[in-house]
Amino acid sequence: MTQTLKPSFRNPRARHDFLGRTCSITGVGSHVPERILTNAELEKMVSTTDEWITSRTGIKERHIAAADEFTSDLGAKAAVKAMKQAGVTPDQIDLIIVATITPDMPFPSTACLVQRKIGAVRAAAFDVEAACSGFIYALEIGQQFIMSRTYDTVLVIGAEKLSSIVDWEDRNTCVLFGDGAGAAILQNRPSSHGLLTVVMGADGSKSDLLFMPGGGSKCPATQQSVASRLHYLRMEGKETFKNAVQAMCTAANEALRRCEIDITRIKCIIPHQANRRIIDAVADRLGATPEQCFVNLESFGNTSAASVAIALDQATTCGRIQRGDLVLLVVFGAGLTWGAAVIEW
Ligand code: ACO
Repeated sequence: MTQTLKPSFRNPRARHDFLGRTCSITGVGSHVPERILTNAELEKMVSTTDEWITSRTGIKERHIAAADEFTSDLGAKAAVKAMKQAGVTPDQIDLIIVATITPDMPFPSTACLVQRKIGAVRAAAFDVEAACSGFIYALEIGQQFIMSRTYDTVLVIGAEKLSSIVDWEDRNTCVLFGDGAGAAILQNRPSSHGLLTVVMGADGSKSDLLFMPGGGSKCPATQQSVASRLHYLRMEGKETFKNAVQAMCTAANEALRRCEIDITRIKCIIPHQANRRIIDAVADRLGATPEQCFVNLESFGNTSAASVAIALDQATTCGRIQRGDLVLLVVFGAGLTWGAAVIEW
């Protein structure tokens, strides 16, 4: 039966309630490796200080995966928790989408490796690569499969072992990143509007702001490419910062506009956890209060595609988000890519 829409969500570009079909997040979960790397330890590895890292980024520590712990392991552990919360068994999963820039290997996809680890034998599986924006891209793809009635239960994961592509001799980047994974189960839940809208964007003309030169078809691994440190990520910090603030604000405003809601109605904003100063600048420009923003980067650093997924799990677990609340996710990453999503929790 077709559900009655709240008047404020009648905008046709807010995708919800399509012939009684909605797409909700029915379970979330996250997992980070046990090992914690503190700013004090980084002081012994590169020329940096806790004071510099804290004042420039807000990051105090990050989790680092063990040598025998891979992106698929982190993703599978987060997935098991999300499935438990949703009350879903592995054989009910129709599709697994993993967003990552640090797959276990170029192929097969990390999603296939997760499928084996969690025993989701019925599921189709593939990866999505949109850097730090990956989780929102994956949410939108998953939502499309639910709304088109192709699938009933989609597992979306953001998982990264960024420590495997960080140059531990480059102080400009090595202090910023961490490892971890977050997962969400998407299902049709007629009692809620769920995902109200998802905005995605990209600008490939700025792909050189944040990239990893080696390891692809352009520059396969050779002794020389390894010696030249081409298999590590590189970033133009200042330009990335400026573009991040602008793109996140544009995406968030577009998502709010599509849903015809004001920022004051958002209970919790979950921004990509890259830098405290980026989050503050975005909140300020959106007219949001600091209390509306959920921030956990002091403990995890930037975990790229896992960032908002981990934060979403934490925000729900600690009670910052209750059923019925309006939540705004907003992300930015290499590509450049960006995105925003409004969810009725
Ligand atoms: N410790 C001490 N000094 C440092 C460090 C460090 N860890 N890193 C850089 N510095 C130095 C620089 O070398 C520079 O020195 P110089 O002036 O002698 O050359 C000085 O500090 C100032 O550097 P700035 O670039 O001005 O520092 P800034 O204030 O811009 O902060 C930062 C740098 C934190 C990287 C910031 O630019 C930033 O957060 N950028 C955005 C990162 C981001 O959002 N990434 C998101 C996408 S990530 C993804 O998609 C995977």
